[in-house]
Amino acid sequence: MVDQETWENTVLQKLELPNGVIASNRIMRAATWMGQAEEDGIIGNTIIETYSKIRAGVVVTGFQYVMYEGQSIRRMVSNSKPSDVEGLKRLAGIIHSSGSLAAAQLVHCGSTSLPKYSGNDVYGPSDMEFPDPKGDTVQVKAMTVNHVEEVTQAYADAAKRAVEAGFDVIELHGAHNYGLWQFFDPTYNKRPVNDPYTGSTIEGRCKAMVDAVRAVKSAVDVPIQVKVDSSSKTVRPEEVGELTKKLAEAGAYCVIFSGPNPTQSPKDAGEAYFLDDAMVIRSIAHDSGLLFGLVGGIRSPETVVKLLTGDGNSAAAFDVIQLSRPLISEPALVHRWTEEAKVGKQEPARCISCNRCFGAGFKGKVQCVQFEGE
Ligand SMILES: Cc1cc2nc3c(=O)[nH]c(=O)nc-3n(C[C@H](O)[C@H](O)[C@H](O)COP(=O)(O)O)c2cc1C
Repeated sequence: MVDQETWENTVLQKLELPNGVIASNRIMRAATWMGQAEEDGIIGNTIIETYSKIRAGVVVTGFQYVMYEGQSIRRMVSNSKPSDVEGLKRLAGIIHSSGSLAAAQLVHCGSTSLPKYSGNDVYGPSDMEFPDPKGDTVQVKAMTVNHVEEVTQAYADAAKRAVEAGFDVIELHGAHNYGLWQFFDPTYNKRPVNDPYTGSTIEGRCKAMVDAVRAVKSAVDVPIQVKVDSSSKTVRPEEVGELTKKLAEAGAYCVIFSGPNPTQSPKDAGEAYFLDDAMVIRSIAHDSGLLFGLVGGIRSPETVVKLLTGDGNSAAAFDVIQLSRPLISEPALVHRWTEEAKVGKQEPARCISCNRCFGAGFKGKVQCVQFEGE
């Protein structure tokens, strides 16, 4: 049970971003693809209606593709051409209308992009065969150095469009086996030692993500956060610690720790299931000046407060918490918890992490199926 005073002194503490812009609390809505863009990634009334209900200190959009070829799933939002600014303005506007700050998550999905968006050739760090969601084999071609530089520039151009549209924060998607993570992870990056993005050195593996932060930093004057995996089968958290330090040097203000298999059930994996790896990374990057965020299976107000206070050890405290599935089910969950704190009885998120919201996205749009109709 979290008492009202503790709730106010932790979760409802304002978060001042490096440019002085203030988020009203420490909970961010994690980037969540809603499968609700119109054809060609256009923002229409359906997605605007969905975002009108979400309440959080910062609302991070679902991943927006920065190049047409970099899409991995249907009905992603496009941020790949000048005419996208109009729709992005509506999106930032509706997020602001509830008092939240708006963050645009940017992605090029690399090897996991779908061939239909790239004229059949899928591009990633290295030549490889990749299973697509239907079980077919996709032949991935290694990007040339020029191509990687074009993608880096596409991140900067997309960030410019997002800021022109009114977004307050840029989040780079450096996790979940998409493009930027692929360059970091030797599973995907087998580029030779004489290549600037080589998979054989930590510098080469970090370069695509670090360059993307630098390019966005020089294009726009808003805070940049990066979502990274905290480990993988072939990456140790200690290596992510080195990456995290480089992201800070490049100009990121905050790193959010996720992981492979991001949508586990906290019943099986425990709440906050990336915490242990995240703590290893933090111990390496502790004096980088970064803010730290955590996502993955956080479900109860008690856990949120424990994470924000370090459970009594301020050196272990996180600055922000991200929630995804709980806010699909209850978009105003943070408001509910705040009201319940006033009467001394907070119930955990009702989300049971069944992931049927994802399945609904493939059929129509992402929504909570468990409590449909309530
Ligand atoms: C339907 C759905 C869509 C998602 N889309 C994204 C996305 O666009 N970008 C991203 O970084 N993570 C995405 N995620 C992962 C979430 O941001 C989050 O990392 C994960 O769900 C774990 O957090 P949770 O336990 O609070 O749901 C998605 C998750 C779900 C369920």
